[in-house]
Amino acid sequence: MQPERHTGFDLPAPDEQSAAHSRRVAEYICQRIKEQGGSISFAEFMQHALYAPGLGYYVSGTTKFGRDGDFITAPEISPLFGKVLARQAAAILEQVDDGQIFELGAGSGVLAATILRKLSTLNALPDRYYILEVSADLRQRQSEYLSTEVPDLAARVEWLPDFPVDFSGVIVANEVADALPVERFTKDGSLLKQIRVAVENGEFQWHQDDAPDLLGKAVDGIEKKIGRQFPGNYQSEICLALTPWISQLVNCLREGLIFLFDFGVTCREYYAPDRSEGWIRCHFRHHAHSNPLILPGIQDLTAWVDFSALADAAVDSGAEIAGYVSQAHFLMNGGLQEELADFTSLAVAEQLELSRQTKLLTLPGEMGENFKCIGLSRGDIAPPLAFRDSDRTHKL
Ligand SMILES: C[S@@+](CC[C@H](N)C(=O)[O-])C[C@H]1O[C@@H](n2cnc3c(N)ncnc32)[C@H](O)[C@@H]1O
Repeated sequence: MQPERHTGFDLPAPDEQSAAHSRRVAEYICQRIKEQGGSISFAEFMQHALYAPGLGYYVSGTTKFGRDGDFITAPEISPLFGKVLARQAAAILEQVDDGQIFELGAGSGVLAATILRKLSTLNALPDRYYILEVSADLRQRQSEYLSTEVPDLAARVEWLPDFPVDFSGVIVANEVADALPVERFTKDGSLLKQIRVAVENGEFQWHQDDAPDLLGKAVDGIEKKIGRQFPGNYQSEICLALTPWISQLVNCLREGLIFLFDFGVTCREYYAPDRSEGWIRCHFRHHAHSNPLILPGIQDLTAWVDFSALADAAVDSGAEIAGYVSQAHFLMNGGLQEELADFTSLAVAEQLELSRQTKLLTLPGEMGENFKCIGLSRGDIAPPLAFRDSDRTHKL
């Protein structure tokens, strides 16, 4: 996701309604902190701030995506993203019997609409397009959006309460892994501490405590993987929810390919010595910053993804890595040029708009390099064109 305009701490003040909502979320989290004896892990804090029933950022009825929200994602920036992805999906659907599409965390529904429309023009429509969305509010919005934007195709869309069983086809998730709650830790020599959240003088504050065994084992595992110990006073994050999530995803797939897009890096980059303040990124009204303890429930909280951990979890669950490429390479390998074939016949204003969208999606300083796509396959599946060049699987 991209803030459209700003980075830094010059945050705008929330309007009165949002501020009141945030106070309610803060009260809810304070209560959980009290119940747990004075502090909660950061992963719990993130879980509540994003998903507390009726209150959390993703489940309350506010606008999140696009210009009037807090951030903009690739499918919201341009239909080019979904069209290129649909081309890859068509190549996979061709290879499996009775293949369908399954999208996780469908946001506003724009990606589903773009993929369905493009597959229809490619004559490659699946019977069903399944969506698993944790937010009831977003499920409702997705349904309304699809009925309006692709009325002839919307009947193919079905919302699932859980992962499907024995699924064949294509699985898609754009910016879902970065919304999974992460643990924060600090390590100084052999001393590992869990970074938790407490309340002091009516405000959320960081608090350190002994790390639970599970976190200790996971941090040992990272040091083994990168082949060195962290430098002194090192702080970072780890997503303990990632392995079970990936394992569920891989296990529900009988045959086909999973496309996961997110901003992220390899394990060595994630835990580089100079990256000692971690990877949390917050978005509020198109301002990006790194303080997750403010504006609870009305700002988005994300953490970059450790793609090596994701790949390890996938392989351990029985998937193969079909490719790991930057978003720019995914799009350029996958047919972006073909999607722009009629560019010169367009009106100048349309050309300018398409150029703007293409730059946002592909330039290294925008989403082109920080965003990656990893493909995870099961069964005898030939990787699609998007992974043809500049594959970085060997770096994971
Ligand atoms: C950053 S938004 C991305 C939305 C959309 N994919 C896009 O690219 O515009 C994250 C989405 O994932 C959903 N989500 C978060 N955790 C999820 C989970 N465990 N399973 C399914 N959806 C989830 C959120 O409700 C939201 O729709």
